[in-house]
Formats: sequence, structure tokens, C-alpha cells
Amino acid sequence: MNIFSGKKILLGVTGGIAAYKSTFLTRLLVKAGASVRVILTPAARDFVTPLTLSTLSKNPVLSSFTNEDDDNDLWNNHVDLGLWADLMIIAPATANTMSKMVTGNIDNLLLAVYSSAKCPVYFAPAMDLDMYKHPSTTANFEKLASYGNYMIPAGDGELASGLSGKGRMAEPEEIMSFVGKQLEQDLPLFGKKCLITAGPTHESLDPVRFIGNHSTGKMGMALAHNLANRGAQVILIMGPSSVNSEHYFIHRIDVTSAQEMYDTVHKHIAHQDYAIFSAAVADYRPATTADQKIKKSADTLTIELVKNPDILASVGAMENRPFLVGFALETENELEHAFAKAKKKNTDLLILNSMKDKGAGFGTDTNKITMIDRLGNAEVFPLKSKELVAKDIIDEVIKRTQ
Ligand code: PMT
Repeated sequence: MNIFSGKKILLGVTGGIAAYKSTFLTRLLVKAGASVRVILTPAARDFVTPLTLSTLSKNPVLSSFTNEDDDNDLWNNHVDLGLWADLMIIAPATANTMSKMVTGNIDNLLLAVYSSAKCPVYFAPAMDLDMYKHPSTTANFEKLASYGNYMIPAGDGELASGLSGKGRMAEPEEIMSFVGKQLEQDLPLFGKKCLITAGPTHESLDPVRFIGNHSTGKMGMALAHNLANRGAQVILIMGPSSVNSEHYFIHRIDVTSAQEMYDTVHKHIAHQDYAIFSAAVADYRPATTADQKIKKSADTLTIELVKNPDILASVGAMENRPFLVGFALETENELEHAFAKAKKKNTDLLILNSMKDKGAGFGTDTNKITMIDRLGNAEVFPLKSKELVAKDIIDEVIKRTQ
């Protein structure tokens, strides 16, 4: 998964020799998981064929207000196209098209879509070096940037005219990298760091058995995805779990035992902005782990347990600690126990979920929580999907750290 996956992208192609590069750009965008719709200006059709671009984009290519190939002459609604897109890239952008973008001279479908698009627009100029340097062109670059468009600067090198200089359209890979970086920077939590613990821990009795619990890691994963989708770099320290965490902003570290989780948390906790402890950590582990499988013999077997370190409390006691969110899973006297935990572990927010509430806690795709802050305020939320619960929690964290 990457920043382009799932994105709806309009690729506008105008009439210049660099139009051939739009085929490679289409291919890269589709490969990155984007849905791509291509709009050609009438002049672009002289340089690249709709068939090539529709084959690569897996969508019909549009170039006029009505669809000539359709018996009913269907109207290509520029407003709908503009609203559909998450972003628009015009590559190549000729001097002619840029000047019309500046003045609002809408004489083709691409310009109509551009002027009705609500999404960010990127343009990659391509022209001969003298045109690129002309005062009218540079003035248009500035005007377009002042309208909120992102310019992808042209490169230096050999031009179609045989001359050499600035004006070559950025290579498709450079366009991908430019747009990708900008998309990341535009995310609200870009640059923030968050550490999350999730899932159960397994405490070994012998090579084949362990003490564990029913946590699946779903709650922690929903939190990790919510943060990552908003641009935060997430370190997800996950106990044994089969939940998939693939995301370009999630760095997952798998651990097994509470001690391993403790060591991993302390290796990474410095410089985190937020830390969220949603793992169901075993409070005790067997005093010894047998080297070989424990054999069945007497009618009863007593196992001595020793206390595990409390990871959340250890971070709560740190002098320079991140904004700290703990969880409490309770079965009785929920609020009383949760208030005590929040105080003891020094959390900024404590998320209480009770096994008494149907659809809350372990395993389910839903949860029902109460948020408890430092002042002892408790806010009760209704039953929701774990994704929406994660959103409520992260919204609250952002509100309290801004
Ligand atoms: O994984 P799912 O199936 O989606 O289920 C989600 C969940 C029920 C596990 C989750 O919502 C939850 O409640 N997690 C905390 C469960 C728990 O162990 O609560 P606790 O009350 O025992 O622990 C209190 C807090 O201290 C927790 O933040 C826990 O991570 C932390 N802790 C506990 C013990 C320990 N040794 N170290 C810790 O860090």
C-alpha cells in the first residue's frame, strides 16, 4: 500500500510532444493502486491515442463535451468529473493551456473540468526553453500557484526542438515522487509519531503451551490505521495476532511476551508524540519455562506465576513522556477500577471498555467505550465499529494536544 492507493485521479493531457510520457505516468498511477481517468485536449489527440490511454487506465478516455462514440451523444459532465477526483494532474501542461487556466478561457473539456475541480491540482509544464523563460509564461506559473495549484517544475536537458535547456516535462517517476510527497505533507498529522501496543501477550509454560487471552489486536490495528491515514508515523508493537497491518505509515514489530513488549516499547518510546496502550498484557508469567513439554502425571499441577512489568505505568512514570492513552478492560465496578488505573498509571486519557457490554471488548468488530481524562471527567460513547471508536479516540487526542 502507498499514498496513491485508492486515490481517484484525473490525468489531463495537453498537446505537446511530452504527451507520450503521460502513458508511462498512467501506468505508474494504476500500478500504485489509483483509479485513473484521462482527459485529452483535442490537440493532445495528435500526440497520443485514446486507445493507448484507455487501455492503460482501464477507463474510457474523454476529450470532448459529448461522447462521440455513443449513439446517444452522452454529455461528459465536467462538474461530476471535477467532484469525483481526489486530485488532478495536468501533464504535460502546455503554455497555451496554462494561459487559459489563468484567464478562465474554457474552450475544451479539460479546462472545464479544471475550473470546476475542488481537489488539489498539479501541473507539469513542458515546452521549449525560450517559451519557458518568456515573461508571460513565468507570470502564468506564478498566477497558477497563487490560485493554489502545485507546479511540478520542468527539468533541464535535450528538448524536442534539438535545443537544450529548461522545459523538459518532469519524468513520470519524478511526478509520482513530487505528488506523493506533497500528498503526505498535506495530511493533518504529517510529522507526528505514535507508538501503539496491541493484541495479547503469550507467556510460555513450555515449548508448546502458553498463558494468554482473547485479544485479537483489532482495536489496536484500527487505531494504527486511523493515525496512519492522517499521516502519523506509527510504531505498532503487536502481540501474537493474525490481523493484517499493511500501511505505508505503519511500522509493525511483532512480539510474544509482556517482557518482550516492555523492552520493545522502551527501545522506541523516546521522541514519540503520542503513545496508546491497547494491548491486553498478561499481568503474570510462569516463574520458569520448562525446556521440554510438561508431562501429564499427578492429578493436579501447580504453576508458580511472577509479576510482569507494567508497561503503561512505566511510561506514565517517565519524566519526558508522550501524551499517554491507556485502556482498561473491566468486568465489574468498571468506573471505580478505571479511575484507579488512570491515576496509578498516570494516563492523560483512559479508555474503559467493559465485558458486561454486548459487542464490547475482545474479538468483536465493535466496541463501547467511556473516555476518562485527568480531571476525572467521564464521557460515555455508544456502541460503534472499532474503526469509528478509533476515530473518536484520535479526534480527542488531537483536540487535547493542539
Ligand atoms: O484486541 P481486541 O480483540 O480488538 O480487543 C481490544 C481490547 C479489549 C484488548 C482493548 O480494547 C483493551 O481493553 N485493551 C486493554 C486490555 C487490558 O489488558 O486492560 P487492563 O485493564 O488489564 O490494563 C490496563 C492498561 O495497562 C492497558 O492499557 C494495558 O495495555 C496496560 N498494561 C497492563 C498490564 C501490563 N503488564 N502492562 C500494561 O501496559
